[in-house]
Amino acid sequence: MSHGSSLTPTVSARARSLKGRAIVPGDKSISHRALIMGGLAVGETTITGLLLGEDVLRTATVMAALGAKVEETQSPGDKHDGTGRTFRVWGRGIGGLTEPADILDMGNSGTGARLIAGLVSAYPFTSFMTGDASLRGRPMDRVTKPLSQTGAKFVTRAGERLPMAVTGTPLLMPLTYDSPIASAQVKSAVLLAGLHAKGLTTVTEPTPSRDHTERMFRHFGVDVWTETVQTGSSGGRQGSSRYKVQVQGQPELSGRPINVPADPSSAAFLVVAALLVPGSHLILPNISINPLRIGLFDTLIEMGAQIAYTNSRIEAGEPVADLEVKYSQLKGINVPAARAPSMIDEYPILAVAAACAEGVTRMDGLEELKVKESDRLSAMANGLKACGVDAKAEGDSLIVRGGGPKGNAPVMIPVNLDHRIAMSFLVLGMAGDRPIAVDDASAINTSFPDFIGLMNGLGADIQAVPAKDLL
Ligand code: S3P
Repeated sequence: MSHGSSLTPTVSARARSLKGRAIVPGDKSISHRALIMGGLAVGETTITGLLLGEDVLRTATVMAALGAKVEETQSPGDKHDGTGRTFRVWGRGIGGLTEPADILDMGNSGTGARLIAGLVSAYPFTSFMTGDASLRGRPMDRVTKPLSQTGAKFVTRAGERLPMAVTGTPLLMPLTYDSPIASAQVKSAVLLAGLHAKGLTTVTEPTPSRDHTERMFRHFGVDVWTETVQTGSSGGRQGSSRYKVQVQGQPELSGRPINVPADPSSAAFLVVAALLVPGSHLILPNISINPLRIGLFDTLIEMGAQIAYTNSRIEAGEPVADLEVKYSQLKGINVPAARAPSMIDEYPILAVAAACAEGVTRMDGLEELKVKESDRLSAMANGLKACGVDAKAEGDSLIVRGGGPKGNAPVMIPVNLDHRIAMSFLVLGMAGDRPIAVDDASAINTSFPDFIGLMNGLGADIQAVPAKDLL
């Protein structure tokens, strides 16, 4: 966690061309789910490539607090070159988790908090949950509302915020829930509870959000049905079809090996940096190219980016490929609202790419961006403006005029406990003559602990801000 006294102000100056092969850390979404499913399966689940970011380590600690055995093991055969290490989880079986002796602290992680809320709502004991200042400000009603219908009870702070107490129910009712938003966290919370219910749990959403839970369930042998259903004259903004997932509860799960691919949302920072810094050429092996995660890459290609996928394959039910990226001249485009679920975490770094493109980029449908680790819509509009970029937030849209940062004076951007805001502005600093600092790079540890070391190894110039320069 970042506190006033431990802020780590960090500045990024124009980079040399970024060249080489870079190992991107494990996918955050899949890492959370691997630990949770390992804790629900009987016997040993071996996880390679697990993200060692703070968010995921919180979930590992929480699963141990709920009775699973979680151990890190080092073996010479580990494939992920030190960015991910092997974890072994011995689970308790569906229904076998036990009352935690202390508060479950989810740190900065909205995904951890929402998924674990779904999980513990299926157990007849009370769990207390909290998080850091960012997470305690984020809405939990999106999961407490559906989960309450199963019989679980929630006591929250005003505005349905953490800390909260969850008292689960032994007679969990299978739920049918039509989610108003395309949210993988909401869908997964309901499905994880549904895994414990007797019968069929159904979730529908306006458009499909990332489907890692469905894929991981199948990998463990759970019966999962997915389909797009026509809803006729719904008149809804998202059209007249909905994505539907059904899960048969109370399966017997046994441990499985899981190889976590590298996170496309983390790769995004290297990809955009390579596109913006002249002469760059990067190879990024083993990146998840789940179709519901690659909206950013599609968008960048539409903007003129040279991004190629090679060696495409399936691992543990997830499509992966190696990415090759070369410096490219980008053009502004309109990014439709329908693309938001497939790139919801990537708008901050897309806004940076847009700031350095030619022409205007308009991004619509960004309502959900306001309730992420920080209000990312305002953070990007204000931060870009501070760097001399013509950018504005208009309702749920972000409009950015290209041309790069103006001026030479260093500028300091507030991070507000948001890892992706920190990394985005450090990438912007690499692309021009104006040094760009962030007030707290320690936030990056939640998802990409070695971001600065990795970037500097490739040609970036990111340094701690000397104390004298802070006055
Ligand atoms: C996540 C879902 C996304 C995303 C988050 C990870 C997940 O949120 O922003 O970083 O792993 O389920 P929503 O789909 O709930 O918006």
